[in-house]
Amino acid sequence: MADSRRTAPSLDRIRGAVHDRLQHDSALKHVTGTAEYIDDMREPAGTVQVLLARSPVAHGRVTSCDLSAVETAPGVVCVLRAADIPGTNDFSHGGTADDRILSDQLIEYAGQVMYAIVAETVHAARQALKLAKVEIEELPPVLDIDEAARREFYLAPPRTLARGDSAGALARAPHRLKGRVSNGGQEHFYLEGQISLAIPAEDGAVTILCSTQDPTAVQQIVARVLAVPSNHVTVETRRLGGGFGGKETMATHFAAVAALVARKTGRPAKCRLDRDDDMLITGKRHEFFVDYDVGFDDVGMLLGVEMDFYARCGNSLDQSIPVLNRALFHADNCYYLPNVRFTGYACKTHTVTAVAFRGFGSPQGMFAIERVVDAVAYHLGLDPLEVRRRNFYRDGSDTTPFNAVVKDNILHRLVPELEASSDYHRRRAEIAAFNAASPYLKKGIALTPIKYGVGFGLNFLNQAGALLHVYEDGSVTLNHGGIEMGQGLFLKVAQVVAQELQIDVENIRLTATSTDKVPNTVATAASSGTDLNAAAAQIAAGKIRRRITAFAADHFKVPEDQITFLPNRIRVGNQDVPFREMIHLAYMNRVALSASGHYRSPVNDYDPVALTGQPHRYYAYGAAVTEVIIDTLTGENKVTRVDILHDVGKSLNPAIDYGQLEGGFIQGMGWMTTEEIVWDSKGRLTTHAPSTYKIPACSDRPRDMRMAFAAWSENAAESVHGSKAIGEPPLCLGISVFSALCDAVRQANPDKPWPGMNAPATAEAILNAIELP
Ligand code: MTE
Ligand code: HPA
Ligand code: CA
Repeated sequence: MADSRRTAPSLDRIRGAVHDRLQHDSALKHVTGTAEYIDDMREPAGTVQVLLARSPVAHGRVTSCDLSAVETAPGVVCVLRAADIPGTNDFSHGGTADDRILSDQLIEYAGQVMYAIVAETVHAARQALKLAKVEIEELPPVLDIDEAARREFYLAPPRTLARGDSAGALARAPHRLKGRVSNGGQEHFYLEGQISLAIPAEDGAVTILCSTQDPTAVQQIVARVLAVPSNHVTVETRRLGGGFGGKETMATHFAAVAALVARKTGRPAKCRLDRDDDMLITGKRHEFFVDYDVGFDDVGMLLGVEMDFYARCGNSLDQSIPVLNRALFHADNCYYLPNVRFTGYACKTHTVTAVAFRGFGSPQGMFAIERVVDAVAYHLGLDPLEVRRRNFYRDGSDTTPFNAVVKDNILHRLVPELEASSDYHRRRAEIAAFNAASPYLKKGIALTPIKYGVGFGLNFLNQAGALLHVYEDGSVTLNHGGIEMGQGLFLKVAQVVAQELQIDVENIRLTATSTDKVPNTVATAASSGTDLNAAAAQIAAGKIRRRITAFAADHFKVPEDQITFLPNRIRVGNQDVPFREMIHLAYMNRVALSASGHYRSPVNDYDPVALTGQPHRYYAYGAAVTEVIIDTLTGENKVTRVDILHDVGKSLNPAIDYGQLEGGFIQGMGWMTTEEIVWDSKGRLTTHAPSTYKIPACSDRPRDMRMAFAAWSENAAESVHGSKAIGEPPLCLGISVFSALCDAVRQANPDKPWPGMNAPATAEAILNAIELP
């Protein structure tokens, strides 16, 4: 942040207090290309480059691997093989032990890394790769979830969440529908690809600059791989050019390779994936299909719902079980389901492992029930919004299928406010009139709500640490366990510290997250970065504040209750001492001006095996109204207007939070529409570059986007200044785009009420769903 010396301290109100609208601390650097990412840094002398050799087949056994010509090729330093690994050949997290760093025998997906070429340049490594002689005996692969489900090819036993008598309710219901809905996977498409730079140090130690959401996991796993204690591995991360969940577990793989090469060669080693390698080697969002059976009455009340969720987990577990659980926990979305049975199946396929992706199963769970609600509404000829509203959780009393009381429910205020501000009903009527007069262009509209559970289910993950140094001149260095990946976490945490110490935020310097500054951290994930790290920083700042208060009382001989922190100064009795002067005095009087803070949120009673208890600390709510237009002759489509009302409690920084709201929605829209992952009949990913994989472009952002926060919402749970998390929930609002497109397709086919379209609704999918007369 800017040097505070250039601007005088403000005396009426600090700059950058909590709830202030401030641009991202690196915004200028982001847009001018001066924010430093790992690949921008000057490489240490002697750095070698690492190229990963991928398997061309999806399933097989390596029968021979002759790399002699590779090893002697110009510019090649050496080859890294599984036999070079002193510790375990595994980068898996959470004890699953099924993610090999180098697969020199069994191949389980096309793209799996077999060995690594170490060279002076990436170009030399690429040239040498052509000289490898690898033979693989191919085995039949299982490539889609359908086949995995038929063969019961699962990575773990199925899990069920049930309440009431769903079978009885279905049998007795006046209406019943059965069907299948599915959603595709999604590539994270962070702008900065996976990268690690490992620098060897004395006594077998290593420092790794790594683009990761979880430096502690990288530290632990690299230690295991190198067979050294964790105190020999330091992991440092200043910022990511995006993570979106794709660097929660995946980054460890490349950090481990870089560390192994540094160990083997004694030289700094950089492992940087180019876009194709990144897309081919690393995991994606879980694709699902869901078989549903729903019973309902004449007005659309959901009497019984059964859904079987089949998830493409790929070849290894990674976090698929918590993702699947989260899908089940969000498959009620905003609706009270008295009789319900949800079962989740973790399907194994010979494709890349599926990993965390913004939402972590919640979007998939919500998508399924939203499709079911649409199906019910269309079957009864009702406005889907009517059916949605009828089934909403009522205020304060209803329980979820896992028996948690939805006590902070604000849907009853939020949705009507959005209906009114978006003019939903008038526009629905106008759209009907437009469609009646327009033979080829059809419009559609939909309102979809969300109820998003915030917090990690596993108790031990809900903790964070921070470290605060106040220097003699009053400047402050802030460090904590969270990762800045563009979401504005560092700034929000700094605002909380600024508020606590009553100093302008530009006095606080944000520094790289590092395992040797704050240890034993958790991944920046589950939207909990601010909830956890800002709370830890607040605790650290509180310690400093109390020490200054005690010091000032003693030094100036006044009672502690006459010491007040005012903007950039401390009032002592009736005298004001500038913050800087007070800090200098404190230093001269030997007061400790450095403090750490550790935060843990209240314990929850969640049981991840029995699927009981409350896995979420609170809910964030929101709703979006999306209007679309489709061309029934080509499938071309456009989002013409979006209205969003979202709940972020008391926003810590509305500028940052609007960025998250908009970005999350657009990423959800991409998942629901243009982003399509395709594997060919041999299990090779055909969409491994931006030429074939389409994320939304700037021009796809709806021209008319009207976003607002429910400013009246309070977070009743323990939280930082009444705020709520916002990282992931808005992605789920993108489902409204899909519902609106289905509405348009339905209006194109009035005699065929159920638009049997699956996500993503690409132009091709839309065209296929339309039957012209
Ligand atoms: N925003 C940007 N710009 N880049 C990202 O990688 N990741 C998202 C979200 N917003 C992401 C982002 C994901 S997946 C999560 S879990 C949260 O940010 C994590 O940060 P937070 O907990 O601090 O909100
Ligand atoms: N999102 C939600 N829940 C989680 C995540 C995440 O990224 N990681 C672990 N639990
Ligand atoms: Ca990826």
